[in-house]
Amino acid sequence: MDWEIIDLHAKQWVSEAGDKIRDSFNKTLNIQTKSNPNDLVTNIDKEIEQFFIHKIREVYPNHRILGEEGFGDELSNLDGVVWIIDPIDGTMNFIHQQRNFAISLAVYENGIGKIGIIYDVAHGELYHAINGKGAFMNDTQLPSLSKRTVKESIIALNATWVMENQRIDHNLIIPLVREARGTRSYGTAALEMVFVATGRVDAYISMRLSPWDVAAGAVIIEELGGIVTNLRGKKLDFLSNDSLLVAKPGLHQTIIKDYLKEGQW
Ligand code: IPD
Ligand code: CA
Ligand code: CA
Ligand code: CA
Repeated sequence: MDWEIIDLHAKQWVSEAGDKIRDSFNKTLNIQTKSNPNDLVTNIDKEIEQFFIHKIREVYPNHRILGEEGFGDELSNLDGVVWIIDPIDGTMNFIHQQRNFAISLAVYENGIGKIGIIYDVAHGELYHAINGKGAFMNDTQLPSLSKRTVKESIIALNATWVMENQRIDHNLIIPLVREARGTRSYGTAALEMVFVATGRVDAYISMRLSPWDVAAGAVIIEELGGIVTNLRGKKLDFLSNDSLLVAKPGLHQTIIKDYLKEGQW
């Protein structure tokens, strides 16, 4: 498989999709709700996913596609080449702020991440990695991640961890929030993952995400030596929903061991 050619195609389509999203800024959005009143989707989320699917099917008819808005294939495994697409990650921010959202696109082969692309459309920042070939922000190669203590760390997480009915006892998170240098919440898993990649934050925690939220970010983070698991310290399968802990090496182990009690819950 020539991943560099696939990567060139993918980046070209992501750039075109970014132009389409920017063009939508001065048009009226059609906003609908999905699973609950805060789970939003717009005509642009759907159009962008369909745009990618059209392009991929034209050039790579044998590849399968997993997309958030459901225009791709229904998958029960990641056999072969699978594109995993979130056309707009951070739809609520896209609607309310016209910033702090991203396109997230990954290509996996037999469950292994090969290409990860995350495009911060509002800032013109394209993060991309091919497995084994380095990770970049636009044309600048990102340095490998180095160790960091909790006391020196900024941790990205959103306030849903305080809500009831979460599968994790939220009391476990309180010491981490108290001891960290600071916490941040951006409302876009894809960008929060690349913020770990660039060192803007040191770790990102989420209680529940879907494969399209994390597939591209995982390729970029792992290329830099960062660690991606669920909150029990187990690998993700990129097919089911799961919790997420992304962090610098060392910091990841400390959070799992000393704060999340190595998943003994
Ligand atoms: C959401 C964002 C958000 C995260 C949610 C995701 P969407 O993605 O990544 O930060 O907290 O769980 O669903 O729906 O805007 O693509
Ligand atoms: Ca969504
Ligand atoms: Ca998402
Ligand atoms: Ca989305």
